[in-house]
Amino acid sequence: MIRLEHITKTYVNAGKKFNAADDVSLEIKKGEIFGIIGFSGAGKSTLVRCINLLERPDSGRVFINDKDITALRGAELRRQRKKIGMIFQHFNLFASRTVLQNVIFPIRYNGLSAAERRKKALELLELVGIADKAGAYPSELSGGQKQRAAIARALASDPEILLCDEATSALDPQTTEAILKLLKSLNAKLGLTIVLITHQMNVVKEICDRTAVMENGRVVEQGDVFEIFANPQQPVTRSFVDTTSCLSGINTLIEEKSPLVQLKPGQKILRFKYLERSACEALVSTISRKFNIDLNIVFGSIEIIGDNPIGGLVVIADGNEDDIRAAVKYLCDINVGVEVILSA
Ligand SMILES: Nc1ncnc2c1ncn2[C@@H]1O[C@H](COP(=O)(O)OP(=O)(O)O)[C@@H](O)[C@H]1O
Ligand SMILES: [Mg+2]
Repeated sequence: MIRLEHITKTYVNAGKKFNAADDVSLEIKKGEIFGIIGFSGAGKSTLVRCINLLERPDSGRVFINDKDITALRGAELRRQRKKIGMIFQHFNLFASRTVLQNVIFPIRYNGLSAAERRKKALELLELVGIADKAGAYPSELSGGQKQRAAIARALASDPEILLCDEATSALDPQTTEAILKLLKSLNAKLGLTIVLITHQMNVVKEICDRTAVMENGRVVEQGDVFEIFANPQQPVTRSFVDTTSCLSGINTLIEEKSPLVQLKPGQKILRFKYLERSACEALVSTISRKFNIDLNIVFGSIEIIGDNPIGGLVVIADGNEDDIRAAVKYLCDINVGVEVILSA
């Protein structure tokens, strides 16, 4: 539904040219929730603004439903742009208008009567769960309610695509969760295609089908969210994946020489990593029984992404050297990744 071909956007900062978006090509399917993750400054906002041509790319083309919108101008471009709604980190509501007036604003000239516009806006407020706030001003709303109002406003012109630029970054975790649920339900109910820009991996994990990872203006990695979590290829992706699990905490314990990781002879610290979608067997009890080794779990992080368990364990294994070696081989054979982190 959205196809970006070789998008480049160049800015000049302190007299120096640099590419905020650097030859980015992406395809986003209809009905998909697609994440774009990257650290601050990676070029995510620049890229997403190129999708609706808030920013014109210096080169490259943007196709929406196979139509090259970079070739359009004037009324035709405006018509195509109506298919794309957008929400922002800081909501961008009109402070001097009520919530209802904010939602009506984008459709004020769309040919409907005032009563019809009002009815439509009220239905949208109902849909996002703040019908009771129609008469309130933005300053009277919580962050979550403001974002709901902004979503209703973005939906007023019946877009097929919703671009979300850090839409939950100013919200607390509970509110973030609620807004993500709302986005997911709009995706399901309206068939809305959603592009979600974020610097938070848990947001991607929560609702995205696929994701792209950006660094220095480039997409360095993209794919199915499960695959990205199971098998991140790039260092930047790995660091994002690490933020969602506690497993790398073991490195800190080792660096700090914590008493928890002072090993006795014969002990090893192992990290098990579930690589396959099938990794839901009783691993710990199986290998302790089969190989006569004791496993003390130090960290565990297992989450369900797209109905598949993913994550791993950090354990201290205690047993004889050959048995531990055999257990490691067994785990590798059933496609559990094993890393020996420390040996006594
Ligand atoms: N209008 C602009 N003029 C000059 N530089 C800009 C402009 N917009 C963004 N940049 C720069 O482009 C880079 C990418 O910015 P941005 O797309 O906002 O990244 P992100 O959204 O990933 O944080 C940053 O270094 C930023 O300072
Ligand atoms: Mg940004």
